[in-house]
Amino acid sequence: MSSNTNPLTRKKGHPRSIRVKVISMGNAEVGKSCLIKRYCEKRFVNKYLATIGIDYGVTKVQVNDKELKVNIFDMAGHPYFYEVRNEFYKDTQAAILVYDVTNRVSFECLESWLQEMRQEIGKPQKMDNVIFFVCANKTDKGNRVVDTTEGRLWADGKGFHYFETSAGTGEGVNEMFQAMFNALVELSENGGKRGPVNTNLGFTKEQADAILRIKNGRDNYEKLGVHHSATRDDINKAYRKLAVLLHPDKNVAPGSEDAFKLLVNARTALLKNR
Ligand code: GTP
Ligand code: MG
Repeated sequence: MSSNTNPLTRKKGHPRSIRVKVISMGNAEVGKSCLIKRYCEKRFVNKYLATIGIDYGVTKVQVNDKELKVNIFDMAGHPYFYEVRNEFYKDTQAAILVYDVTNRVSFECLESWLQEMRQEIGKPQKMDNVIFFVCANKTDKGNRVVDTTEGRLWADGKGFHYFETSAGTGEGVNEMFQAMFNALVELSENGGKRGPVNTNLGFTKEQADAILRIKNGRDNYEKLGVHHSATRDDINKAYRKLAVLLHPDKNVAPGSEDAFKLLVNARTALLKNR
């Protein structure tokens, strides 16, 4: 990690300087160190070099008229380093919560990372004032298994910011860090209290749930949410309800067009047997 050497922001004892602590969390190999390296050093290394315990770096950034001194603690994701990590959770203003979009387990483990942090921080109200930035990382890879809808919904449900990133290509990385710095200044101006997150999802949870069910349903009955003994009427009713929810003309949720096609096929197949 290197620091910003801009002479304008290097002045010691800057009157408007704000000191903040940021940590990175997430399973081993999801790309935490690479994301930080991509932002701080504008480069990417393909070879995996596991973080041993903790890596520390500091970077100074200018946000409007404020100087932000950001202390970044990059944690090792491997369970082996729990003892080293656990003392670094305290006094954190922002956390980068990373998962690998090609690895479902790394997404499912986000909850246990929050649990680990909660346990170390102790007081729940302290956790409430940490700003979380979820990074759905490695979007450059072809074998994605956790889609945008799922990731966004999880983050949105928690009141966390959500970004799709690739440390490999740099996609979304500067945007994520910039948004985090802005939020940190806002947090400081707000006396350390976290404000609401404006997610601008553009679609409802009901729509996203319908897309997920249609995509992941094990058979056509499950996709339409009808019983095996459903009549033609039941099937058509369920279809119409979902079709209204998912019509591609209105629905901007990612995956809605594919889900709509699957829905039409499921209805056709079920009606054939009746
Ligand atoms: P620990 O330090 O062990 O917790 O891992 P980490 O989360 O810091 O992972 P790291 O940044 O070291 O990256 C792990 C591996 O994934 C490396 O081989 C990286 O080159 C690769 N990697 C990281 N980010 C990306 C990405 O956006 N795209 C691709 N294709 N590979 C990535
Ligand atoms: Mg690392």
